[in-house]
Amino acid sequence: MGIRAFLLLLVLVLASCGGGGNDSLLAGGKSVYADTCSVCHGTAGEGGVGPSLDDVTATFPSCDDQIEWIALGSDGWKTERGDTYGASAKPVNGGMPAQIDILDPMEIAAVAAFERATYSGVPEAEAIAQCRLDVAEDEVLAE
Ligand code: HEC
Repeated sequence: MGIRAFLLLLVLVLASCGGGGNDSLLAGGKSVYADTCSVCHGTAGEGGVGPSLDDVTATFPSCDDQIEWIALGSDGWKTERGDTYGASAKPVNGGMPAQIDILDPMEIAAVAAFERATYSGVPEAEAIAQCRLDVAEDEVLAE
């Protein structure tokens, strides 16, 4: 799936869903993080092969950009967006694997919200709203 089809699907999934509970939304993101991200970013977001996630909201003030980064990974981002990423124009050094064919759009939005809330100090409800999970249904994550 190309990034445009993916982002369109994300918008459609989010738009087609009703309200959901904050706890289950972030719990979905937490389990995605543990299964798919912690090996490189650390079990507490402290970093490892990948950078610490303490400043992820400084890197990506917009959750949409964070979602796109996660979907594309380093190589895809370079192709679609260029040699730097984030508000501070960090160099894309490589090594972040694209998640577009691994996770579904809801899982990516949920893990982005989880990272912002848990490692970057954004209040949970705000992180959920920033990543537009507040219009999504928790059943989608439970699938
Ligand atoms: C194989 C190791 C690896 C895995 C697995 C991985 N990442 Fe990464 N991640 C990286 C590396 C390396 C970078 C820096 C990439 C670069 O410079 O091109 C990065 C960068 C990031 C950033 C930017 C952080 C910042 O402030 O600069 C975010 C956000 C991120 N990853 C989220 C995730 C999420 C969410 C997952 C799981 C779905 C994940 N990563 C899985 C290695 C990984």
